[in-house]
Amino acid sequence: MKRKAVRILLVTVMAIAAMGCGNTSVNDTGTDDDAIVGNDNTENAATEEENSVENIDVADMTDKKVGICIYQFSDNFMTLFYNELENYLLSRGFKKENIIIVDGENDQTTQTGQIDRLISEDVDVLIVNLVNPSSAKAITDKAVTAEIPLVYINREPDADEEQRWEENDWDVTYVGCDARQSGIYQGELIVDLGMDNVDLNDNGKVDYIMVKGDLESIDTQYRSEYSLKALTDAGIEVNCLYEEVGNWQQNQAQQIVADALEQYGTDIEVVFCNNDAMALGAMQAIQAAERTVGEDIYLVGIDALSEAIENVMLGNMTGTVFNDYISQSRSTVDAAINYLTGKENEHYIACDYLKVTQDNVQDFLDMLN
Ligand code: BGC
Repeated sequence: MKRKAVRILLVTVMAIAAMGCGNTSVNDTGTDDDAIVGNDNTENAATEEENSVENIDVADMTDKKVGICIYQFSDNFMTLFYNELENYLLSRGFKKENIIIVDGENDQTTQTGQIDRLISEDVDVLIVNLVNPSSAKAITDKAVTAEIPLVYINREPDADEEQRWEENDWDVTYVGCDARQSGIYQGELIVDLGMDNVDLNDNGKVDYIMVKGDLESIDTQYRSEYSLKALTDAGIEVNCLYEEVGNWQQNQAQQIVADALEQYGTDIEVVFCNNDAMALGAMQAIQAAERTVGEDIYLVGIDALSEAIENVMLGNMTGTVFNDYISQSRSTVDAAINYLTGKENEHYIACDYLKVTQDNVQDFLDMLN
């Protein structure tokens, strides 16, 4: 399947080696080819994508209605995302009263009902962050039947579904980042510390725990797998002590890490969390157990939430990976405007993750505040 990956630097991914306590399997749901986009500096964050709309200033969006379905408002990252979506829509000439944003409350039946309602209210374009990516086929069929263009965000439908959009030349696309890249970057944050620092018990392995997002999300599967792959590709042996699903939530992760610390104590060298909300929960558990990040344990997240960036700055987190919600929101709106003005989009619109380390954390603080 053809993909437009902007600023592709690295395009080879080797065969997947299953690792970890529970061997999270990678179903080939999201990214069907072997391209991974790579990029290491902050300059490209939030810049206009190649896909960006042309002549947007002349297109009048004042009467266009947009329906935005978010899988769950209580998700910190998605809150940043939909706020940015709204701001950017306003800056592109949409009117606030024509932007309808609804909370799927992490329930696909609720979200499907909301989509039915938005369709019956004649929205001109739909932006959908699916609760269950496996429901994409049914949702796409509804939008196509109603002749409403559709932009999926964040929770990627599977490769077969994306193939249908292309084969039928439908006005349907996905905007997101390749979760494998975020996993690799997260693993590299640990690799770059050097085994002398990380292998605290000198057993020649990195003894870790993994706190996962929800299992429906391809981000969970790829991040869990590729963070470890970065270590093994660097010749480092890994040893999983504990892994558990924290559903992207801070409080669940806090409990998981508290339990793991009680059970495995100082054997735990690294705590991998699939996102920052969970890394912040892990950080609370680590502090409650009187362990010190950077001295007797390491902790990495993904997203670069403000609170996480501040804690990287303070040394309470080893590092994180910027999940560029600004670029993703803008590409989403630009794609929607393209459809609304009779233009086409590629059926996959990519963006890059960026590593956040002690060395460049100030750049992110400056950029995001
Ligand atoms: C983010 C998570 C978020 C999830 C929701 C991921 O890309 O990193 O923070 O909870 O998307 O689907």
